[in-house]
Amino acid sequence: MLGARGGWQALRRCASLPRAQRAVRLRVREALRAREPAGGVKVQGWVRSVRSQKEVLFLHINDGSSLENLQVVADPSLENRDLTFGSAVEVQGKLVKSPHRMQDMELKAETIHVVGSCDTWSYPLKMKERHPLEYVRQFPHLRCRSNTLSSLLRIRSEATAAIHSFFQDNGYVHIHTPIITSNDCEGAGELFQIEMSHEARKSAEKTHFFNVPAFLTVSGQLHLEVMAGAFTHVFTFGPTFRAENSQSRRHLAEFYMVEAELSFTESLQDIMQVMEDLFKTATNTVLSKCPHDVGLFHKYIAPAQKDRLEQMLKNKFVIISYNEAVEILKQASQTFTFKPEWGCDLRTEHEKYLVRHCGEVPVFVINYPYDLKPFYMRDNEDGPQHTVAAVDLLVPGIGELCGGSLREERLPFLESRLQRLGLADAYQWYLDLRKFGSVPHGGFGMGFERYLQCILGADNIKDVIPFPRFSHSCLL
Ligand code: 4AD
Ligand code: MG
Repeated sequence: MLGARGGWQALRRCASLPRAQRAVRLRVREALRAREPAGGVKVQGWVRSVRSQKEVLFLHINDGSSLENLQVVADPSLENRDLTFGSAVEVQGKLVKSPHRMQDMELKAETIHVVGSCDTWSYPLKMKERHPLEYVRQFPHLRCRSNTLSSLLRIRSEATAAIHSFFQDNGYVHIHTPIITSNDCEGAGELFQIEMSHEARKSAEKTHFFNVPAFLTVSGQLHLEVMAGAFTHVFTFGPTFRAENSQSRRHLAEFYMVEAELSFTESLQDIMQVMEDLFKTATNTVLSKCPHDVGLFHKYIAPAQKDRLEQMLKNKFVIISYNEAVEILKQASQTFTFKPEWGCDLRTEHEKYLVRHCGEVPVFVINYPYDLKPFYMRDNEDGPQHTVAAVDLLVPGIGELCGGSLREERLPFLESRLQRLGLADAYQWYLDLRKFGSVPHGGFGMGFERYLQCILGADNIKDVIPFPRFSHSCLL
């Protein structure tokens, strides 16, 4: 996104150009932040409001660069039939100080060119209406032009950059892990299998394109573990797919996952520290880079979220063991749909209760039952309630945000577990990692959409993604 500095420099360049070439294109955000008036400015965008008075015509233009619109002031003679709400326009004129209390600059139009008209009658968005999220969800191809979705998409973009910066600043190497893979990251989730189309299969005269079954990735973890064996600190941030037949407000079929893997790490504490630092650093960056966009969510969508988020950022995250969690749940006065029992997975209702019990701050639950977790998690060798060094981070309003563990780096332990599961042959390459320079290591994955839900207070995960169509088991 262009900063105020870009706009300032563009205006200075414009002042030094010969008069004929002086129309300099500014984004709305740049125009709003310009420090001084300037002539020969061109702004392109979509009309968010038109107000025609006897002496003056007011337009508000938005081009997606900011939540705020740029006010255009024009002579009524520039009005024309096509200049309506939703139309695409190019306005040339002078940037002048605005007498309006809420903005510094406005554009005094000399010409207004309607680039693309808009039939306001059939256009589903209406001028000056605050459309509910449920309403705009019906128009996946148009909803990015509503305030809420455009704010969300700018926040998403800044949050992506903040997450990348966090890892890059801390010496992690970014790895593009494969999207098509034969590896099912045992137990991570239900798989989507990749197949050739019926036609392609007929002409290729084979069943599998790669000669073996292939799937869309459910996690980049195992590939990251490979890379952690060479770079020590690695991360990936990409699309992840799970064929979960779930209609919940926190599950998607296609979502983004941030995953990190750290070598030479012997304690879950180190992994939890990275999770907490990532959450707090990325969130503070997002809050400082897009305060107005986040403010819109905290004002109109989830009014309690601002205070909740402040508590999350201010307080140290709580750590409890799975054993403690089960005890807390058993003693709860609340009746759960799923009775809490040692050895059973925590359900969303349990996770939310635990977060409330701990004071509405994020809670790490560590050391889960051995039989509940995938083969790669490190055996704690405790008993009789036998656990692995796993960790889930639970957050207010959502439940599980991150899942991670120490990985089993000891060859005999891993080999015997894989043999018991009948997977030793398939995972020979993974066993190799424990034969050649094995080190204690661990990592975690954070669901990016759940992270956005958590900072913004968005109740439905479908409202924090750009295109909701194939995101869920039921099509919109
Ligand atoms: O807990 P999960 O399944 O962990 C793993 O896949 C590990 N292999 C990650 C690792 O250690 N590198 O998934 C991690 C996170 C969850 O905590 C959740 O936030 C998110 O991914 N997630 C989903 N988000 C949206 N829709 C779904 N269907 C999700 N499934 C998991
Ligand atoms: Mg999990």
